[in-house]
Amino acid sequence: MYSYIIKGGKKLHGETFVSGSKNASLPILAASIISGKTTKLYNVPDIEDVRITLQILRELGCKIKKEKNKVTINSRYMTKTVIPENLMRKLRSSVIIAGAIIARFKNVQFSYPGGCDIGSRPINLHLENFKKIGIKIDENTRYIECKYDKIETKNIVLDFPSVGATENLILASILGNQEITISNAAMEPEIVDLACFLNRMGAKVYGAGTNIIKIKGVTTLKNVSYKIMPDRIEAGTLLIAGAITGGMIKINGVIPEHISPVLDKLEETGCEIKLSKNAVYLSVNKKLKAVNIKTMPYPGFPTDLQPLFSTLLTICEGTSIISENIFENRFKFIQEIQRMGAKATIEGKTLIIKGVKKLHSADLESTDLRGGASMVLAGLCAKGTTKVSNLKYLIRGYENLDIKLRELGADIIRKEGE
Ligand code: UD1
Repeated sequence: MYSYIIKGGKKLHGETFVSGSKNASLPILAASIISGKTTKLYNVPDIEDVRITLQILRELGCKIKKEKNKVTINSRYMTKTVIPENLMRKLRSSVIIAGAIIARFKNVQFSYPGGCDIGSRPINLHLENFKKIGIKIDENTRYIECKYDKIETKNIVLDFPSVGATENLILASILGNQEITISNAAMEPEIVDLACFLNRMGAKVYGAGTNIIKIKGVTTLKNVSYKIMPDRIEAGTLLIAGAITGGMIKINGVIPEHISPVLDKLEETGCEIKLSKNAVYLSVNKKLKAVNIKTMPYPGFPTDLQPLFSTLLTICEGTSIISENIFENRFKFIQEIQRMGAKATIEGKTLIIKGVKKLHSADLESTDLRGGASMVLAGLCAKGTTKVSNLKYLIRGYENLDIKLRELGADIIRKEGE
């Protein structure tokens, strides 16, 4: 493992670009196995979560070729339908692979998934949806066993627009003669990317990006090449890094519409934002002010950027109130930022931050993926040298975060062995 050593206080300036989306890549990699053919994916981020997903696909019998950000998956000779428990535990989104396996083989066995510690993260909605379309589930053994003879035509109303449960239901419904309608579906851009990929492969998925998605089953799918969408969470991370250091930066390869709630809030703090087709410019020319944030499913403010934005708010003038409505355990990072002088209190689902003039350096331990990134951002603006260790979570979701920050003028180095 390694840590980042950050000499804080440098205003970021210049430009960098965002990588392909983690949260689009993971379900699309899973979906590639449904066709039993060859899938070529471009712009796949070189991150740990992708490596774990590819390892699972290999174990299932897929032939994989990976050259930097291009991944080729040949799933023709795949025969296994059991997702290995040790790999399942490494990654929450491995549960999506279950939907893809069941679509292709009519049965799958898997254990409960793992992932970042940001809340209980159950999979009840995934399993309830499977049941509603006629999949039989046995949870009484070491593995959850799912199987069916025929997927049933159904209208399904989700209790909550879960991203993963929407994706899993889409994948499980791709093949067959049935028609499935999902109401109160998640509307995240990554769902749109998944649907575009599936449709390119020959599937019939309509309405992705709205809260009603219809899937008409098809009998065959074909070879496909597809470029993954840019990572909106990475885009937000880099922009917040620009803001927290009082810098002037341009982030390329962004779809600005995907991050409009974040851009709105950055403007509300006092940042200046300018947009071009695929880039966002951010500059800070005055003292930034406190704002309130409520995380919501898309198109609301994304929970994944809450820890990073909250960290920015620790040095904004005034009191900010942050309501976390998606995950119950997503304020853990603030304990570490408090060690740098931040003033914050947690009341249930609410974080109250009183802005301070400056943070000071500290040795920090990363708690989860986005929490780890928020500590890096705190280090960038703090006085002195900050060390962020336990980066095993951060490398799951960011491709070369240190290199991109260095491109923007940050003094950050990666130290091996800790
Ligand atoms: C995805 C994203 C994650 C993001 C989250 C919310 C991926 C790989 N990860 O995670 O980065 O933070 O969306 O935007 O795309 N829930 C249940 N039962 C279920 C499923 C979910 O209670 O069966 C709850 C979760 O505990 C959580 C909430 O629903 O409180 C949202 O979860 P969900 O939208 O499913 O998030 P993920 O798909 O896990």
